[in-house]
Amino acid sequence: APGAQQFIPPRADTLDELRAAARDCRGCELYRDATQTVFGRGDAHARLVFVGEQPGDMEDQKGLPFVGPAGRLLRRAVDDAGLDPGHIYLTNTVKHFRHELRGRRRIHQTPDQVHVTACRPWLVAEFARLRPEVVVVLGATAAKALLGPSFRVTRQRGELLPWPAAAQRPQDFARVPVDSAGAVADAPPARLLATIHPSAVLRADDQDRAYAGLVADLTTVAHALG
Ligand code: URA
Ligand code: SF4
Repeated sequence: APGAQQFIPPRADTLDELRAAARDCRGCELYRDATQTVFGRGDAHARLVFVGEQPGDMEDQKGLPFVGPAGRLLRRAVDDAGLDPGHIYLTNTVKHFRHELRGRRRIHQTPDQVHVTACRPWLVAEFARLRPEVVVVLGATAAKALLGPSFRVTRQRGELLPWPAAAQRPQDFARVPVDSAGAVADAPPARLLATIHPSAVLRADDQDRAYAGLVADLTTVAHALG
């Protein structure tokens, strides 16, 4: 698979330009069965960025991330943690909805490593323009994309970690045009915190407890941002 890199215009300085270019991405086969690219949305100057897995059914139809049930739960948790919902940016590890058809139903399928790798240039390009202070990684797919395949959210959730070396290798950024602010790799853009995915909260046996855990982790982030 060619990956997303060749679809990123060298002079796309803004998130809006990236978003427009991402509409035509064919970096892996997932564009074929999905309705549209679901790029990140939110405050271009956000200090806080959330990274989910991939768009769900609703997101695929609307073209916006986190507008379905998981998004509603996340929004509630953001409020309960005392974070400012107007100053965040929401995006996904993979920008097309991977699913399989069962009859007329579209069933979510976790993206494979090839899709994560193919789509990663978009995520890196978003980070390069956002330069957030904290990145919240929601669930295993996003955590593995940024922290490597051996990272276990269940064991290392809720901890503010330094921006991982794997996500900071100069060559990762060098291939992605950055804005006039300069070389992103010179300045580790963020700290990172991994937590449970809101969809996993919705599926949990003890939803209240899972939700309280999510809010507790986001409260750590709220304190870190001051
Ligand atoms: N789950 C995600 O990971 N991302 C979305 O945008 C919606 C649901
Ligand atoms: Fe491009 Fe990512 Fe969509 Fe694959 S999932 S086609 S890499 S935007």
